[in-house]
Amino acid sequence: MTTSFEPVDVLINEVGPRDGLQSQTKILETSQKESLVNALLNANINSIEIGAFVSPKAVPAMAGTDELIAQYSGDTKQKFNALIPNMRGYESAVSNGITLLSLVVAASNTMNENNIRMTTEQILQVSAEVLKRAKSDGIDVQAYIATSWVCPFEGDIAVDQVVDVCEKLSDAGVSKLIISDTIGAADPQSVKQLMTILTRELGGSQFACHFHDTRAMGLANVYAALEAGIRQFDSSIAGLGGCPFAPGASGNVATEDVVMMLEQMGFNTGIDMQQLLVASDIAIELTGTAKGGRAKPWLQQQKQQHAA
Ligand code: COA
Ligand code: ZN
Repeated sequence: MTTSFEPVDVLINEVGPRDGLQSQTKILETSQKESLVNALLNANINSIEIGAFVSPKAVPAMAGTDELIAQYSGDTKQKFNALIPNMRGYESAVSNGITLLSLVVAASNTMNENNIRMTTEQILQVSAEVLKRAKSDGIDVQAYIATSWVCPFEGDIAVDQVVDVCEKLSDAGVSKLIISDTIGAADPQSVKQLMTILTRELGGSQFACHFHDTRAMGLANVYAALEAGIRQFDSSIAGLGGCPFAPGASGNVATEDVVMMLEQMGFNTGIDMQQLLVASDIAIELTGTAKGGRAKPWLQQQKQQHAA
């Protein structure tokens, strides 16, 4: 992803407003989503996945993404990105002023059929058409590679299968490949192995990682990917998250945990931890389901000591 903002050592893309909210049983009003996004902006997060331009029948919680975006000025919209499943999503996102879009392509065929009702071959074809159009429109398009380690339907995914999908999308012109552990089944060993192979085959700057914390290995997986040279991560405020079409998917690795670990290790993220904790409180209050990052009680304690 290319941003014109202050340079950071590691770029955090906050996915709470999309991955975090898409499978909540409680659907938030646009004004509630806006208060969460404002809190994230206050924490100086310069890359936020604001929502998805998908079928409202498939994902009711993402209806109104256009209305949410309309609350913001052009400059702020530059900080947003959105998920699109097809050309219709592309057109809607672009007409709403979003210039960084994310296609979603699973490494597993069954996941593609369940998630977006297309085979892998069909979504690769759709992706190529979207990328061709985006190139002539000057729009930046990246791609999630869902179920890159384990698929809830097909089980373990072969490394070659992920490499193959990545190569095809890279050749078609995606700016970034977001290697995603959709159900949170990867471990640090498998993360290091896959990311080392991918960066060797396709070059390191093309990749970001997206982890869910189902088995409490989210942070360890971030560390393993860092060791493999990855410098861009998705995370979700308060650990919100999950995919409605992937049985067993739980929350993403929490942004407050990832930022704490990176900053303690000496990586600048540009994010204000005090304000991030405010955003985490808001996410918990609005959804009633988010728990907050694993380190949140300790971080809150530091905040109180800092204020005293
Ligand atoms: N935005 C809004 N509506 C869309 C759309 C888009 N990008 N693409 C299709 N639709 C609408 C169609 O107009 C149609 O509406 P109708 O029933 O009122 O006529 C309906 O969705 C179905 O369209 P169709 O082309 O037959 O698609 P489908 O039923 O094969 O579903 C997707 C395909 C991709 C649209 C749907 O599966 C989807 O939106 N999936 C999103 C999955 C997701 O977000 N997963 C979580 C993130 S990984
Ligand atoms: Zn996810």
